[in-house]
Amino acid sequence: MNLKRLLTERLEAALAAAGAADAQAIVGPATRPEFGDYQANGAMAAAKHLQQAPRELAGALIQAADLDGVASAATVTGPGFISLTIDDDLLARALTGPIIERLAGQRVVIDYSHPNLAKEMQVHHLRSTIIGDAVARVLEALGHTVLRQNHIGDWGTQFGRLVAHLDDIGEDADRLTDLESFYTQASSRFDAEADFAGRARQAVVNLQTGDPATLARWQRYIDISMSHCQAVYDALGVSLRPEHVRGESAYNADLDGIIQDLDAKGLLTESDGALCVFPARVSAKYTDQFKAKDGRPVPVIVRKSDGGYLYHSTDLAALRYRADTLNAERVLYIVDARQAMHFRQLFALADVAGYGAGVSFEHHPFGTMLGRDGRPFKTRQGGGTRLLDLVEEAKARARALVEAKNPDLSDAEMDDVARAVGIGAVKYADLSKNRTSDYVFDWDAMLSFDGNTAPYLQYAYARIMSLFARGEVDPESATGPLAVDAREEHVLALQLARFQETLELVASSVMPHHLCTYLYELASAFMRFYESCPVLGSDAEASRLLLCARTAATLKDGLDLLGIETIDRM
Ligand code: ARG
Repeated sequence: MNLKRLLTERLEAALAAAGAADAQAIVGPATRPEFGDYQANGAMAAAKHLQQAPRELAGALIQAADLDGVASAATVTGPGFISLTIDDDLLARALTGPIIERLAGQRVVIDYSHPNLAKEMQVHHLRSTIIGDAVARVLEALGHTVLRQNHIGDWGTQFGRLVAHLDDIGEDADRLTDLESFYTQASSRFDAEADFAGRARQAVVNLQTGDPATLARWQRYIDISMSHCQAVYDALGVSLRPEHVRGESAYNADLDGIIQDLDAKGLLTESDGALCVFPARVSAKYTDQFKAKDGRPVPVIVRKSDGGYLYHSTDLAALRYRADTLNAERVLYIVDARQAMHFRQLFALADVAGYGAGVSFEHHPFGTMLGRDGRPFKTRQGGGTRLLDLVEEAKARARALVEAKNPDLSDAEMDDVARAVGIGAVKYADLSKNRTSDYVFDWDAMLSFDGNTAPYLQYAYARIMSLFARGEVDPESATGPLAVDAREEHVLALQLARFQETLELVASSVMPHHLCTYLYELASAFMRFYESCPVLGSDAEASRLLLCARTAATLKDGLDLLGIETIDRM
């Protein structure tokens, strides 16, 4: 049940009846407890239009709105806000219905992870992978059809030297277990050995002309490199699979056709042999965006003078494929903020070319992951696939903490907890920050059992499960009925009922930190309830067990949507 939507609908009906059919109710969580559970400030905006005093209009709306069984109290507060307290019977109904309601879904493409295979997977690919995967899970849970697209960088001149090096050392050489030294060797040979450099350049030509033997070598290299990425995905519990890979090379065959199409539409201008599009010349809405300092329109190059294609060209083909072949209604690009300009150009190109009309193309940028020294984060220097090192370190650190906290666990249990806590901590630290800002990667902060961290939430979950174990009650059988008496019970029930609106907010904003904040507030509301309301053996046991069971299930589902495991005992 989406409480926010329900209140919005009821208040907007009243606004319409008052003569402000276009006015919005603007409902949000109350900013202070004395303002009830939700606040609406739509009356403030509509009052002007209706030429009425805001507080008076707010009072009239409360009278007119159908809030029976929805709000147990509605009052005018401040300059004309409507403060609403949710009816406990409605909460009781919300808490026995499904935890997540599926909506009439859209087809959503999510472009995430997308490592470049000519070098090791970088930290910014880790951020894209973690954020994209959480968004994919949330959208799917809400009933959307998610089409994961791993737009890997698998084409370009850099592959010439890798293919030539692979030729020399042989495909099954042990050195391929360590790709990082493989890239380094290939690059230094390219710089130092003239003969090797010649063969590398020839390999580029062979790739471009489609020489089968060279393509087979390249494919072999891509497969090996992708299997390293897959190992990172598996270790992190990320839902990407080989079938989600559709890299840059997949669009090679479309590029000439794109150019012909742009030409047929009269969009191409030649400049020193390169082919360009001037969005500002096609539509006035691009005048400001594509303007040089001297006021002249700025072009976007779609083919270089040597006939080579660019990052844009491939992305334009991918965009058209997603719109026309995958039938996407929404395409989310979870890509580093440093590429913002690229996406502005890409979306403008698509618009003037008429590709994907009606489809929502969205770049959702994220900031840089910093080390504690404030510089871009680096994993330990040298040796091994670096992101795997990070995963191993996370597990080792978590294991040490868990051993100290609960020495009674068996060795196998320790490993499970260490994996869940270590990887959960890394993911949650990233997801819980507003993604647009940079954030500092700090082991101690992310592994703390206090505060807005994965271990805190996982521990809250385990505490509830231990209560059920102690009472020998199956959480599934805790079905209430809900009887709200104490203030802490109302606050907890309300927070539980807000799960749906939180997920819908994550889906529309593509901001997973809203879900993290929600789960942290849920665990905190639970802790306050648990401190003041005895559960086992109390008169209100049935109702309170329902609150406990629902909290555990919501924490579990919520963490699962973030790609984080929960364990019953830790
Ligand atoms: N491989 C690119 C990089 O590492 C990111 C690709 C993002 N997706 C896209 N459709 N351009 O910079």
